[in-house]
Amino acid sequence: MAELSTQSGQSAEFAGRTALVTGGSRGIGRSTCVMLAEHGARVAVNYTTNEDAAKTTLGMVEEAGSEGMIVQADVSSEGDVDRMAAEVRSRLGPVDLLVNNAGIAKNQPHTEVAYKDWKRMFEVNVDGVFLATWAVKDAMIERGFGRIVNVASLAGIILKKDMVHYATTKAAVISFTRHCAEAFAPHNVRVNCVAPGLTDTDLAGSGNPGMIDRLIASTPMGRMALPGEMASVIRFLLSEDSSFVTGQTVVACGGRS
Ligand SMILES: NC(=O)c1ccc[n+]([C@@H]2O[C@H](COP(=O)([O-])OP(=O)(O)OC[C@H]3O[C@@H](n4cnc5c(N)ncnc54)[C@H](OP(=O)(O)O)[C@@H]3O)[C@@H](O)[C@H]2O)c1
Repeated sequence: MAELSTQSGQSAEFAGRTALVTGGSRGIGRSTCVMLAEHGARVAVNYTTNEDAAKTTLGMVEEAGSEGMIVQADVSSEGDVDRMAAEVRSRLGPVDLLVNNAGIAKNQPHTEVAYKDWKRMFEVNVDGVFLATWAVKDAMIERGFGRIVNVASLAGIILKKDMVHYATTKAAVISFTRHCAEAFAPHNVRVNCVAPGLTDTDLAGSGNPGMIDRLIASTPMGRMALPGEMASVIRFLLSEDSSFVTGQTVVACGGRS
């Protein structure tokens, strides 16, 4: 599938490892699930409402030769996230690789952003990253192994017009990454971040077409990313190819920043 094309091939680098990808049902999360499966990981595919899409991702994980499960949870709910971590642990084993990918976005001029919009953006994009990390980090520290990748956004680094709430959540994720990386580093738990530019997913498709054209025009590479191109960066940060990298944010934006 073109959307998954990464030329990363297959390997057993994550054999015996359990991965949990939040928001694994679609977009960047789906490509990440499939790529981790191609490299040997067992994969838990999280979703919130779209069970059919999660099942499709799971089918792709199995086609890639690995095993997995789907797990419903709203990452903004502490109860859901704790249940999700327990279900994954009992079916696939403790989480070794966590990808905090689930997120929501909305283009809204400041005149339209109400407190409830701001709050929901933070609940999913920031609380969700905190809750999933907190649900697995103690066990990672105890085992002396863990790899976490948080998905932020270029919007958390450079100005993105009409996205005050979204951009602020993504800046928070970058800061959270740095702090966790420092705290967990002595325990062989690395924490990194990817900051995607415009990527061809449902989320990008929900923006207005004029805005997408303008973003593409201001991207030196002159196109959107494929979800698989973000999955490649995530795979790298989870793998031993990045064994001395922690607390970093890799910006993958076609030269736009
Ligand atoms: N696409 C871009 O241009 C772009 C650019 C920069 C950063 N990002 C970031 O990349 C990440 C993935 O985005 P995407 O473009 O792949 O989005 P997408 O295609 O809209 O997929 C979003 C995924 O997140 C899940 N999700 C949403 N709210 C959730 C919640 N409360 N709890 C659990 N799962 C939830 C969705 O599950 P359901 O299928 O059940 O709805 C879906 O799997 C996000 O953090 C986004 O901010 C994307």
